[in-house]
Amino acid sequence: MSVRGIPAPSLYRPPAYWEDRAQRFAAEGDGLAAVCAYGMPEFYNRAIHLGQRLALEPWLKVGRGTRVLDVGCGVGRWSRLLAARGALVTGVDLSPTMVAQAERRAAIAGLAGQCRFEVQDLSELNVGGQFDRVLGVTVLQHILDAAALRRALVAMTAHLAPGGRMILLEAAPVAAVSRCDSTVFRARRRDVYLDLFRSCNLELRALTGVDPAPFRTRLLPHVRTLPRHLSWSLLALATALSLPIEALFGRRAVGRSWHAVFVLEHRFGRN
Ligand SMILES: C[S@@+](CC[C@H](N)C(=O)[O-])C[C@H]1O[C@@H](n2cnc3c(N)ncnc32)[C@H](O)[C@@H]1O
Repeated sequence: MSVRGIPAPSLYRPPAYWEDRAQRFAAEGDGLAAVCAYGMPEFYNRAIHLGQRLALEPWLKVGRGTRVLDVGCGVGRWSRLLAARGALVTGVDLSPTMVAQAERRAAIAGLAGQCRFEVQDLSELNVGGQFDRVLGVTVLQHILDAAALRRALVAMTAHLAPGGRMILLEAAPVAAVSRCDSTVFRARRRDVYLDLFRSCNLELRALTGVDPAPFRTRLLPHVRTLPRHLSWSLLALATALSLPIEALFGRRAVGRSWHAVFVLEHRFGRN
């Protein structure tokens, strides 16, 4: 596996792109190279997973029977975590191979009875029923078409039960930063998301940080141009420096964080 990840294609066709990514990496290890940083080394993706988990933990408290919709579920890492805590999880994803891997991994974990997975495009999301939690982790940042993004958010909102919460973790820096943008990824400014949520009748209940340390996002745009051994060493250094900062300050350093966790509720009947 390359230490520098896999370059983004010149043309982004989401179903083909995600299916290809899943076929290459979703069966490997925990599947993190398919759903975190594409094709990056194991240590790098494990650190990303840990940082995301620490950031999400306060919002992942579920009881027995809590209905969860995991949108863009990938290989089902959050679906399994929530099912193991008693939730009944529906996961949807664009890629059939991601969904097959999510099903396989849930079955191996003994959680098949609490999880169901479907192939669906979020911009046409319709799984029937309503959910106490709608969870999306690093998914909207890959829906680049503005109309598709809006349709996805409207459909996700329609699946929220009264009193339910939507929890979204997305790249959303406070100021415009495009250095990591590619044909498949956009770090939208945080207030772009906040405006979009408001226009979908979603009320912000909490906003927390994830990854305030700037080392990885500063390094990533250059990593492909560096000699291989140097890029590996710098990635390892950036990861080692970021981890303690994220663990200690990740959630609280909201303004400096590259990603954000948005906790939203539907303003039923209120405008
Ligand atoms: C970066 S991965 C994150 C996966 C998962 N949320 C996680 O945190 O492990 C993004 C996922 O969103 C899915 N995805 C992207 N666009 C989608 C769309 N329009 N509809 C449904 N799923 C989509 C991809 O197939 C991929 O599995």
